Amino acid sequence: EDARSWEPLCTELLVSVATPHCDGFPDMDSVESYKLSTSEELSLLSAESIWGALRGLETFSQLVWRDEAGTFYLNRTDIVDFPRFAHRGLLLDTSRHYLPVRAILETLDVMAYNKLNVFHWHIVDDPSFPYESTAFPELSRKGAYNPATHVYTANDVKLVIEYARLRGIRVISEFDTPGHTHSWGPGAPGLLTPCYAGSVPSGSYGPVNPTLNATYWFMNELFREVSSVFPDFYLHLGGDEVDFTCWRSNPEVQAFMQKMGFGQDYTRLESFYIQRLLDIVSSYGKGYVVWQGGFDNGVRVKPDTIIHVWRENAGAYQQEMARVTKAGYQALLSAPWYLNRISYGQDWQAAYEVEPLAFEGSPEQRALVIGGEACMWGEYVDVTNLTPRLWPRAGAVAERLWSNETVRDLQDAYARLAGFRCTLLRRGVQAQPLFTGFCDVEYGGS
Ligand SMILES: *[C@@H]1O[C@H](CO)[C@@H](O)[C@H](O)[C@H]1NC(C)=O
Ligand SMILES: *[C@@H]1O[C@H](CO)[C@@H](O)[C@H](O)[C@H]1NC(C)=O
Ligand SMILES: *[C@@H]1O[C@H](CO)[C@@H](O)[C@H](O)[C@H]1NC(C)=O
Repeated sequence: EDARSWEPLCTELLVSVATPHCDGFPDMDSVESYKLSTSEELSLLSAESIWGALRGLETFSQLVWRDEAGTFYLNRTDIVDFPRFAHRGLLLDTSRHYLPVRAILETLDVMAYNKLNVFHWHIVDDPSFPYESTAFPELSRKGAYNPATHVYTANDVKLVIEYARLRGIRVISEFDTPGHTHSWGPGAPGLLTPCYAGSVPSGSYGPVNPTLNATYWFMNELFREVSSVFPDFYLHLGGDEVDFTCWRSNPEVQAFMQKMGFGQDYTRLESFYIQRLLDIVSSYGKGYVVWQGGFDNGVRVKPDTIIHVWRENAGAYQQEMARVTKAGYQALLSAPWYLNRISYGQDWQAAYEVEPLAFEGSPEQRALVIGGEACMWGEYVDVTNLTPRLWPRAGAVAERLWSNETVRDLQDAYARLAGFRCTLLRRGVQAQPLFTGFCDVEYGGS
């Protein structure tokens, strides 16, 4: 409307960072706010920390546009921007299908375009154990899909962590126990509980055996390593969906229950295991996140534990958020953001319309919600479909976690997300369409 409101791209962007410190890792308390003003004379980006400067540079890059003749422009604007939640994550599952390192790196790039700042690496699970451990190399040798090609070496892990750091992204690894450990069995004889059929072992194995001292020795060594390999303060310890049938079938476990006075209450055995695991992890100076299952079972966890809410079929997640925060725990929300689930139509809208603080509770309870994570579980996802399934849908979650809660108009969001999808295509990311339409990618490139 007003031709004077935009001018050809200026040639200078001045970046000012109050406390430059480029060697550190981002953490929960990183200040990501920034101010950006652009004009024809000079564009200025100022931030408290380098993490804020990174967010501002990303915004700057997205403000640049191109006319049909191919000339770049930058509109005059003033932006004051900061995130609503400190923890804005994405979970990738590298156990159900192995994801090549380059796919993880590309995902980190796109996370940064979306201002997501936590990569939750669900690195091992029942189907495979791709993490190459220094302390226990047999785990991946016997538990990976292919111990030569489908593993993450120490160098791979370092590469991922550094690549993430340079984009202001924290890496939180998840070694889920005592359930979800099937793939650990072959490489760690004696770790898993032998299940019984009547009075004889059935030949199958259940969760980690919580009755043996050797189990805690093993966890101590493994988490000593994991704590030093992953620099973030937090480790995700999983702790969900522990199947009690195998524990129940095993006479040694029964005898242990008797000895400990647990009766028939297997949640007390689960509690016993989790407590000892938390002690081990605390002894390495780490904090921990666990899935909600243990909390639901009444497992006693330490007061500084972060509870990760994911269940959709155990009552509305809003009630779970209320329960978790009422008990005084910090909470992370993922239940409405399982992006591995797809349906016909614009399913990004449901993810976008979520309001993480819309549950019954006090302001103190709401203050315990530190953010959330979009999840991409890997049953039906591998490197062939990861990118289009994630993007731009995860952008809906990213905006919900970054922007003011009053930013929720679906039509505006559609226009932004559809435009952003074109930006992604120009940047070489195979993001899927939201609906009909087209992108001017022919004179795009990167
Ligand atoms: C910049 O301003 C022009 C003219 O007002 C407008 O048409 C265009 O959509 C704006 N571009 C961006 C990226 O805001
Ligand atoms: C396990 O460790 C505890 C405490 O250190 C000890 O009392 C117990 O005898 C040990 N049990 C076995 C079977 O070694
Ligand atoms: C969110 O937006 C509303 C309405 O524009 C505003 O009153 C409020 O101050 C904003 N919240 C923050 C944290 O900036």
